Amino acid sequence: MKEKKYIFSGIQPSGAIHLGNYFGAIKQWVELQKEYTGIFSIVDYHAITVNYNPQKLQRRILEAAADYIAAGIDPKKSMIFVQSDVPEHVELAWLFNTIIPVSELRRMTQYKEKSGQQQAASAGLLNYPILMAADILLYKAIGVPVGEDQIQHVELTRTIARNFNRKFGKVFIEPSVILSRGSRIMSLADPKKKMSKSLGEKHYIALSDSPKVMRKKFMSAVTDTGVTMHEKKKSLGVYNLFELLDLMTDPKTVAKFEKQYQSGKLSYKELKETLAEASVRMFSSFQEKRKELLSDEKKLRKILEDGASKARKIAQKTLHEAKEKMGIV
Ligand code: AMP
Ligand code: TRP
Repeated sequence: MKEKKYIFSGIQPSGAIHLGNYFGAIKQWVELQKEYTGIFSIVDYHAITVNYNPQKLQRRILEAAADYIAAGIDPKKSMIFVQSDVPEHVELAWLFNTIIPVSELRRMTQYKEKSGQQQAASAGLLNYPILMAADILLYKAIGVPVGEDQIQHVELTRTIARNFNRKFGKVFIEPSVILSRGSRIMSLADPKKKMSKSLGEKHYIALSDSPKVMRKKFMSAVTDTGVTMHEKKKSLGVYNLFELLDLMTDPKTVAKFEKQYQSGKLSYKELKETLAEASVRMFSSFQEKRKELLSDEKKLRKILEDGASKARKIAQKTLHEAKEKMGIV
């Protein structure tokens, strides 16, 4: 049998998975499993770089595992594991710390944004992309399916791979970003910002939100804020809702609302109702599966252990190669 190539991606266990995570990342992970062996990590060492609740972390990790599987990640085809269960990630990250200038880290947009929100940004927050590079490069993954906000980090990963190979000899592969159609979903309450857990409840729709909550959030979505997208004419809010319509319904429904919009007779209420119903329908079986998975914690833990032991074999081999080239072993 021909060996499949690896793709790698991860999500922080910092809360519920939302529509942005789903359309930007997880949906394509599910599709890519057919062609590649997926390595999907729950990146707890990334999640602790900002304020978090230690009491909730283990629960969040289990929920993330249930989210991955309920969304369609098949543990038989892909590896699902918790980052801290494979300590090689941290060890390789330390090696990479020595080959990347601090100035490169300081210019990362996510660092600038997140450090601005904190009184004192930790060194961990600054070094975050180094750990991410280690995540990806340990598996010599050829592709990284992520949302648009992570492009810069994958580019830095490529730089790290290139620098290492040039300095010490070839070990790493430069991975490509794999982007999907919904790679930048905006907040419902403030469409100038990207949908994110950290903005607060009303800004995102979690795949696990009850139908009632989904409807409420869609119905109160901001549409016209007076800001108009330059060439597309629609306001940011309306543009975002059309984007979601495109992702969650069929071309006929999109065409119907497009026509309403063009003739200046768009019913926001009808558009929002259509979106709410579509998202309730789209994630109802996800929600059932998620609930079922979370009722058997032991089984979930076993899946994570299996994933980690498979991942670890690959990780150990690459780490050894890197250490050898660096004269450490
Ligand atoms: P995070 O929730 O920051 O751990 O992100 C996990 C994955 O979801 C990453 O691949 C992100 O790029 C992607 N993602 C997060 N927010 C969005 C969004 N609003 N639109 C599209 N993709 C997103
Ligand atoms: N930084 C990513 C995010 O916040 C999560 C992440 C960590 C990741 N390591 C990764 C994504 C490796 C892709 C590959 O969204």
